Amino acid sequence: MNIIDIKDLHKSYGKHPVLKGIHFQAKPGEIIGIIGKNGAGKSTLLEIIMTIKGFDHGKVSLFNQDLQNISDRQLEEIRSDISAVLQPTQFYKNLKVEELLKLFKAYYQSDMDIKKVMADFKLEPHRKTYFEKLSGGWKQKVSLAIAFISKPKLIVLDEPTTGLDPHMRNMLWAYITEYNQKTGGTVILTTHYMDEIEMYCDKVMLLNEGRNEVFDTPDQILSSTGFQSINEFYLKNVSI
Ligand SMILES: Nc1ncnc2c1ncn2[C@@H]1O[C@H](COP(=O)(O)OP(=O)(O)OP(=O)(O)O)[C@@H](O)[C@H]1O
Ligand SMILES: [Mg+2]
Repeated sequence: MNIIDIKDLHKSYGKHPVLKGIHFQAKPGEIIGIIGKNGAGKSTLLEIIMTIKGFDHGKVSLFNQDLQNISDRQLEEIRSDISAVLQPTQFYKNLKVEELLKLFKAYYQSDMDIKKVMADFKLEPHRKTYFEKLSGGWKQKVSLAIAFISKPKLIVLDEPTTGLDPHMRNMLWAYITEYNQKTGGTVILTTHYMDEIEMYCDKVMLLNEGRNEVFDTPDQILSSTGFQSINEFYLKNVSI
């Protein structure tokens, strides 16, 4: 059983090809990091996985269902098992942090303990602050907390730690790891921090020139290439 199974995926914007034959699988419980330079197509790939962007050619299956051969109802069911945090986090203007969490808990009919979520994400100091008045990193933290409320089987995070201070970065990774171990949920994320790939990801995919040049465990990449770190591997394999 694959949570995600992608074969020969192609996607262009107008005449500009971005994805030129991606092959990608995610199994239940895996944490997979996608890396690549700015504009490589990472966010585009995540948006296709989230079913909010179409594609030109290839096969995309989620939870063993081929996206090109499913009914609206099946698509709705698939979507209810996915949570995501994308790059811009400018939503939810007129709600306070605690109100937002309660709203999503009710919407998803989740039994998640909001007090625990607030404590885990250290959100108490801004419990009664309006979302739009938070700093960028705090908005990111609240958006991430919301993503876990529905207890998704698949969580898709686009640069979740960009803009977070070092303590918050550690906190988020502790949370992702705990969520993954407790629920068996699958996590797909992008990051520009190569240390996160080494420390936390089961597998890493390097997206370069529209293709997944490498898709393996960090250990296997290091042992087969002889590089000391994923950062060194990246710098030697990807041109500016
Ligand atoms: N809606 C769109 N219309 C036209 N071109 C787009 C659109 N979205 C993205 N692109 C282009 O597709 C390419 C891939 O963009 P994408 O955002 O997927 O890259 P990325 O790997 O996520 O980059 P970053 O690391 O900067 O977030 C870029 O050249 C971008 O300009
Ligand atoms: Mg991006």
